[in-house]
Amino acid sequence: MMNFVNVKDVKNFNGQEVTFRGWIYNLRTSGKIWFLLLRDGTGLIQGVVSKNDTTEEIFNKKDILTQETSVTVTGLIHEDRRSPGGFELIVKDIIIHQIAVDYPIALKDHGVEFLMENRHLWIRSRKQWAVLRIRHTVYYAITEYLNENNFFRFDSPILTPNACEGTTTLFQVPYFDLGYAYLSQSGQLYLETGIMSLGRVYDFGPVFRAEKSKTRKHLTEFWMMDAEAAFVEHAENMQIQEELIRFVIRKVLDKNLSELEILERDVEKLRKADAPFGKMTHHDAVDLLRSKGSEINYQDDLGAQDEFLLTEHSDVPIFIEKWPKEIKAFYMKRDPENPNLVLGDDLIAPEGFGEIIGGSQREDDHDILLQRMQAENMPIQDYQWFLDMRKYGSVPHSGFGVGLERLVTWMSGVQHIRETIPFPRTIYRIQP
Ligand code: 4AD
Ligand code: MG
Repeated sequence: MMNFVNVKDVKNFNGQEVTFRGWIYNLRTSGKIWFLLLRDGTGLIQGVVSKNDTTEEIFNKKDILTQETSVTVTGLIHEDRRSPGGFELIVKDIIIHQIAVDYPIALKDHGVEFLMENRHLWIRSRKQWAVLRIRHTVYYAITEYLNENNFFRFDSPILTPNACEGTTTLFQVPYFDLGYAYLSQSGQLYLETGIMSLGRVYDFGPVFRAEKSKTRKHLTEFWMMDAEAAFVEHAENMQIQEELIRFVIRKVLDKNLSELEILERDVEKLRKADAPFGKMTHHDAVDLLRSKGSEINYQDDLGAQDEFLLTEHSDVPIFIEKWPKEIKAFYMKRDPENPNLVLGDDLIAPEGFGEIIGGSQREDDHDILLQRMQAENMPIQDYQWFLDMRKYGSVPHSGFGVGLERLVTWMSGVQHIRETIPFPRTIYRIQP
């Protein structure tokens, strides 16, 4: 009987004979012995093959093995500080499943276009593997925090009859005899109905923006977690966002130190970000930017450079709150202290990683909301159901949306958002 184990559990098997199933990551010969680096999805282990420990037949497999060949390898585990992971496998037997012929991605630098073309294979590389594992942690940390804090999962539709975040970034799909549907930009409007049933709700799924942005922060399909809560106002809304993000940072530091090391991420920077977040109004942010030489105006949205300047001396993310209503979505609540502002907040990550959350208190007054929608020439009939929330037991409420890939980009410290999702969709690429 073979004793199948995962590489991640190797420390429990010191001195024992075990069997791993996986792929050859690298091969290296050195005279009378040769080495294989095996990956099994859970980690990497080095195997040593020498004539003393195995048969001639197994020893000679070095002549046919190639990078990414799938194998079952049996051997003796022993502790070896010099090996990656601290343990080594003295190989006795190798069963080959399939020999990989001319695997295109060598263990050297390739151009990014080539890697994107081969994304289906690139995900096997060590750094990509590390990022995908961090993504897993971030995803489950977000849901864990929400589940522990009385939020109920409330899935919103992807095919929708109207826009949530403005009409300029909608993807249109023919929809039978009913005309066109749009791919959801955010589930928020539906979540606002959910709180009237469940109190606090969230969704988590793909959203779509036909955004012509070519930056390293934009995808056309990305994952968003929208959260929404009844009886929560602006200040408490930001408090929930801060708690959530700090919870995620701690989970990543707890679960992914070795992945962060593979990515050469400065973990001290993440540790320092787990402290009270900064906060400033949009107006103060513009003052600060202008004092740094920027020509931004008080009615302007923030660009990537502005976001960088605002956080350049901050270890922690910074909330930018109270925005001019013209540059924010129709559903945001008017600031009772200044009718030209809305109670919105953007959370900006440090180190230039930019906006990771957009949130706000929602306008809960039927007539004020209707006026705003009319002023924006929105098709009121299509949003009647949304206005209904302000007719049948309206309450103060707030919510926010976390961009999963933005958060993973920041945690893992990669330079481009395309590495944080298995199959990135950008304006340039829909393959593979
Ligand atoms: O700021 P946004 O547009 O807010 C909303 O959609 C709200 N309805 C959410 C809510 O209140 N429930 O998007 C939320 C977040 C952004 O802060 C950003 O992290 C991410 O989604 N995001 C993108 N991520 C990748 N590619 C894009 N094109 C993105 N656009 C927004
Ligand atoms: Mg935003």
